Amino acid sequence: MKEGSFMKNSIGIIGMGWVGASVAISILNRGICKNLLINDLNKDVADGEAMDLNHGSSFYPSATVSSVDINDMIDCEAIVITAGRGGTGDESRLDLLKDNVEIAKAISEQLKGFKGILIIVSNPVDVLTYYYQKFTGLSKNRVIGTGTFLDTARLRDMVGDMMNIEPESIHAYVVGEHGDSEVVLWSGATIGGKPIQQWSTWKSEYEVEIAKKVQTAAYEIIKRKGSTNHAIGLVTATLLKWILRNERRIVTVSIVQDGPFGLKDVAISLPSIVSSEGVEDIVEIHMSESEKEKFIHSTKLMKQAIAEVK
Ligand SMILES: NC(=O)c1ccc[n+]([C@@H]2O[C@H](COP(=O)([O-])OP(=O)(O)OC[C@H]3O[C@@H](n4cnc5c(N)ncnc54)[C@H](O)[C@@H]3O)[C@@H](O)[C@H]2O)c1
Repeated sequence: MKEGSFMKNSIGIIGMGWVGASVAISILNRGICKNLLINDLNKDVADGEAMDLNHGSSFYPSATVSSVDINDMIDCEAIVITAGRGGTGDESRLDLLKDNVEIAKAISEQLKGFKGILIIVSNPVDVLTYYYQKFTGLSKNRVIGTGTFLDTARLRDMVGDMMNIEPESIHAYVVGEHGDSEVVLWSGATIGGKPIQQWSTWKSEYEVEIAKKVQTAAYEIIKRKGSTNHAIGLVTATLLKWILRNERRIVTVSIVQDGPFGLKDVAISLPSIVSSEGVEDIVEIHMSESEKEKFIHSTKLMKQAIAEVK
């Protein structure tokens, strides 16, 4: 392989805890790459995961899983960051900030020369997306936080349940921080091309109830099982598939913004067109006045969090 060329069909995962393992199995099940390279600070964990995942190879499209050093991932088309400390249920994502920025710095040092797409999953995902972009020096469109993609998936699931419609037919977005200040854009939500607020079966009370359930979903799951992993595994594998296949889908992901809504120097989620180049464009989606106010508030909180560790 030539220096600097991509190792085709290769994806790296850094951090093989609950989330890394779920991302890995979701990638393999869907045949998204031929070579899956995995790493963890605890080498035994990565070695064990590689053995375990390879033993299932009869049941997913042909692929090999290898436990490697981070340096060996430099030529991958994409690397997923799931390294970090998970939440404990009663602490906010921002409490994890300092520890995880330190981890980001250490990992970025080892990613020198990487030119692919970097997907950030570790929390607080918006702040870490900002710092990974700064630390690695990759262009802003190539450092992508999963952001509110998971929250948007949760929203569609819950609205789907309420309306007895498949989530895929629900067009509704969560924007802003992946966390407490996130904003559900009810004013633009549609089902079958009809605004959700015009459906006779829709009640305005549902909006507060569902938005709260989406916002607290992670806390509720962590309280019960210690981590959230399956939905984020599926979200991350799907994002990788759409990026690597250049599908130009629109998803709510977090990048360091430069322009939309006057934003600069803050990573936050907005609907974004993703392609093999990463985020190609941002959709300046319609927001009601109160949604816009909440969104701007969310961006201010993220700027503060970024400043806290500068
Ligand atoms: N963005 C989202 O929607 C979302 C959803 C769920 C979890 N998360 C986040 O994902 C992260 C991982 O969660 P988890 O439950 O898997 O935690 P975990 O503790 O089970 O796993 C984290 C792993 O990272 C490894 N690690 C730590 N520092 C490392 C380094 N420098 N290099 C390589 N590996 C390193 C640890 O050894 C551990 O195995 C957390 O930050 C969590 O908050 C994000």
